[in-house]
Amino acid sequence: MTVLVMGATGNVGSQVVAALRERGAPVRAVSRRERPWPDGVDGFVGDPNVEHGLDEALDGVDAVFMMSGYAAQTGLLQHLSTAHVVLLSASSADLGHGGNAMAAMHLGSEQAVSASALNWTFLRPCSLQSNLLQWRDQLAKGDVVRAPFGDVSPAMIDPTDIGAVAALALTTPDHEGQTYRLSGPAPLTPGEQVALLGEALGRELVNRPMTDDEAREQMGSPYGDAAVEIFRDHADLETEVQPTVERLLGRPPGALADWLARNAERF
Ligand SMILES: NC(=O)c1ccc[n+]([C@@H]2O[C@H](COP(=O)([O-])OP(=O)(O)OC[C@H]3O[C@@H](n4cnc5c(N)ncnc54)[C@H](OP(=O)(O)O)[C@@H]3O)[C@@H](O)[C@H]2O)c1
Repeated sequence: MTVLVMGATGNVGSQVVAALRERGAPVRAVSRRERPWPDGVDGFVGDPNVEHGLDEALDGVDAVFMMSGYAAQTGLLQHLSTAHVVLLSASSADLGHGGNAMAAMHLGSEQAVSASALNWTFLRPCSLQSNLLQWRDQLAKGDVVRAPFGDVSPAMIDPTDIGAVAALALTTPDHEGQTYRLSGPAPLTPGEQVALLGEALGRELVNRPMTDDEAREQMGSPYGDAAVEIFRDHADLETEVQPTVERLLGRPPGALADWLARNAERF
């Protein structure tokens, strides 16, 4: 079987590729640029933003790891006949259709997949531990880290765990029609995240919270409003620790300190 992986160079996609290779599954990896790939991985250059931009990647493909919200999804769903699709959605999809732009984007992709005749599994993670990489520009300028929603403690998930769950669902039976809420092992405020990052980097970092208006402005419209609504009115979508990773993988989800130890050089 060959598995097509969208976003294969990304935080999550790269871990999906690695976990599929550990299981011995051949991978066709999508990137917008030509690049070297490890053994067992065949690269496909294409842009997920382009309608039908990935159709030609489907030759011999039996399963697809798909990211939400990309224009290429329609063409993929039209051309696949029997494949299993694992869609990377988000916990915000639990909000349903209430006008939240982030939820709407993920739900729209979920509905397109479920309206097809394909088997599917939906992954709905909360925030990723790799989001801390968004602080790199601030860290290059000094030791102050400004972060939004200072009083909310997301149970951030290690992308490696999403990759392992995706690879399991793509290569073994009994995951059809399942929607998996996924989280890491512990809720942590941004202040606690900054403290762990400081320990990993050997730096004395200082956390200064952003206001919600600053967060809105930084994220832009419409996703800034959507994020404020989620963190203020539905924080449980971010903070609840889910049992799913341990149930599916037979081990606890990875801690932020461990992800930081493995990724410190990326900062
Ligand atoms: N961040 C969170 O907290 C969070 C929470 C829940 C769900 N999610 C979902 O998880 C998905 C994956 O997250 P991630 O951190 O793995 O993503 P990422 O690393 O930012 O991006 C994945 C890959 O997609 C390609 N890409 C990036 N921007 C693109 C663009 N504008 N147009 C087309 N291709 C683009 C890049 O590959 P190439 O440059 O090689 O083409 C990149 O390596 C998100 O898109 C989101 O839907 C995220």
